[in-house]
Amino acid sequence: MKLTRRYEFSASHRLDTPALSQEANRELYGKCNNPHGHGHNYVLDVTVAGSPGESGQIASRAELDAVVSERVLARYDHRNLNLDVPELCGIVPTTENLAVAIEKALSANWPLPAKLAGVRIQETDRNIFELESKG
Ligand code: NI
Repeated sequence: MKLTRRYEFSASHRLDTPALSQEANRELYGKCNNPHGHGHNYVLDVTVAGSPGESGQIASRAELDAVVSERVLARYDHRNLNLDVPELCGIVPTTENLAVAIEKALSANWPLPAKLAGVRIQETDRNIFELESKG
């Protein structure tokens, strides 16, 4: 059985890669290449899998919240993703790369008995990314 718990954080970014010319960056990333950045209200879904034991729950909501808060929300919320989050430094902060970084931050020494099954990040109503975790 799976439990998905939803979180939100707001962060700013600018999509730009030094590998491309200014013009090619503008063409590739569109308005996400605007020089001074812009923000998103990201919706982060974290899914864990397991069976409800004696508690009748796959995972303690409080314990899951604590892990996500400490490892992700406290470090990403109201930050500039180009500058403030060490694991994203030097990486174009697309939501694809954000999903990889967040999954990694969560899965390293994962502390709960329930397995980490995956993360899903909604950047806008039309852009949603899912990454399955190897647990
Ligand atoms: Ni953007």
